Amino acid sequence: MNIKAVIFDLDGVIVSTDECHYKAWKMLADEEGIYFDRTINERLRGVSRMESLEIVLEKAQKSYTDDEKTALAERKNNCYKEYIKSLTPDDILTGVMDNLEDLKAKGIKIAIGSSSKNTPIILKQIGLDNYFDAVSDGNNITKSKPDPEVFVKAADMLGMPYKECLVVEDADAGIEAGKSAGMMTLAVNKAQGGDMAVENLGKAKITELLGL
Ligand code: BG6
Ligand code: MG
Repeated sequence: MNIKAVIFDLDGVIVSTDECHYKAWKMLADEEGIYFDRTINERLRGVSRMESLEIVLEKAQKSYTDDEKTALAERKNNCYKEYIKSLTPDDILTGVMDNLEDLKAKGIKIAIGSSSKNTPIILKQIGLDNYFDAVSDGNNITKSKPDPEVFVKAADMLGMPYKECLVVEDADAGIEAGKSAGMMTLAVNKAQGGDMAVENLGKAKITELLGL
């Protein structure tokens, strides 16, 4: 193990926006008369907005045109943005700041690798804009996780070889993406398939897991 950079997913790893996403999709589904529940919501973890919409629409009774789909995604996002307006630094998940500070102190580069186009807004809300060495997000990628693009771009921004990067993820799609990029993976929460796994970052010191 020779890890020199850690790339963090944002939603569900740094901050818990899951409930905001769930409530916004639920609002849209209810308005459209589409069945939606928390089990379906779990499938949206790490998946881009438009791909998430396709999953939500699997239960729809009618088909939608591309223009209608764009409008639906915008309605969901407007609702979601109202919810994330109330995020503050207190919403940073347990153990995250301790780990970030510890990594920085040991000279390990830290980056964000998120599918979300709302990443800049969220980082600002929680006071972590200008904190990371690189931010790769839904605004600079064309392919969503499980494609490795978002992590590859983060490593390129840092100038780090992929095999020297660790990806921290709460989504199966994100773990798959990290592995496809040739990176080591740490699964948090319920994510499956990581090289290492912890329940949450409050229960682990990443530098210790890496033997640093
Ligand atoms: C991911 C979330 O981080 O971002 C997904 O896990 C979400 O649930 C995706 O769909 C896209 O987010 P946004 O903010 O661009 O709609
Ligand atoms: Mg996530």
